[in-house]
Amino acid sequence: MYVARTLDELAAGIASLGPGLALVPTMGALHAGHLSLLEAAQHGGAPVAASIFVNPTQFNQSDDLARYPRDESADLELLRQAGCDLAWLPSVQTMYPAGDEIRIVPQGAALGWEGDVRPGHFSGVATVVTKLLNQVSPQRAYFGEKDWQQLQVIRSVVDALFMPVAIIGVPTLREPDGLAMSSRNRFLGEQERERAPALYRCLSRLAQAILDGDEVDVCLATAREDLTLRGFSVEYLALVDGGSLHPAAELMPGARLLAAARLGSVRLLDNLEVVLPGGPRRTGL
Ligand code: PAF
Repeated sequence: MYVARTLDELAAGIASLGPGLALVPTMGALHAGHLSLLEAAQHGGAPVAASIFVNPTQFNQSDDLARYPRDESADLELLRQAGCDLAWLPSVQTMYPAGDEIRIVPQGAALGWEGDVRPGHFSGVATVVTKLLNQVSPQRAYFGEKDWQQLQVIRSVVDALFMPVAIIGVPTLREPDGLAMSSRNRFLGEQERERAPALYRCLSRLAQAILDGDEVDVCLATAREDLTLRGFSVEYLALVDGGSLHPAAELMPGARLLAAARLGSVRLLDNLEVVLPGGPRRTGL
């Protein structure tokens, strides 16, 4: 695996691999969910690059940035074992040579939900992803559906700026008990870890109740109460149009449940499509 830390090394690495790269952007602290993105990228047949960059501009709280898990040598080892061709590890100075001077400020899908709870977050994500895509020029880039709103924001930025890259969404990888894999799960205490899968179970029950024809508002209120009783502090729980992220008052094709809830100091995000019987699943593809 070629490891690049400067733009010159990146250019040399890309040249050695030839055209048609696939890119998996990450912030490190890699787990099986990231490896599933890598695997999806490898199925495309092209050489695969993965970036590891803990992007300061997407953290709206400095303590959150400070405690973001970092383990470069373990990450590089995982990438090597997974057959990654190129690891791109830029510095903050390389990514932001002019400081935080130029920003992309997405609207549309970036408004509401995470956009409300974490002001400026999607601007940081859109800016860094645009920089990474411009640096690596991949044909395809892979992102997890776990961060569904982020995926829609990135799609909208790439479309609006006519960037020649296909954005591919990869289904959420879950622990056997249903908890969506996330770099932040390692911060869950023992009891919190036991409670955490209740979020996904709640989304699954909620989806079924909506499909059974129960009133959406009532279902959401009941699910919120249930999560609160189980010790979650719910930030949002909503049924939305999976593309625009607008709230959906009733079931429609592509409708998706979005949730963010805290367990102790850990924020858990999850989402689930409410698939209409016989309807196609809306993938990130
Ligand atoms: O999902 C992430 O890990 C990050 O938000 C991303 C897309 C790598 C941008 O920093």
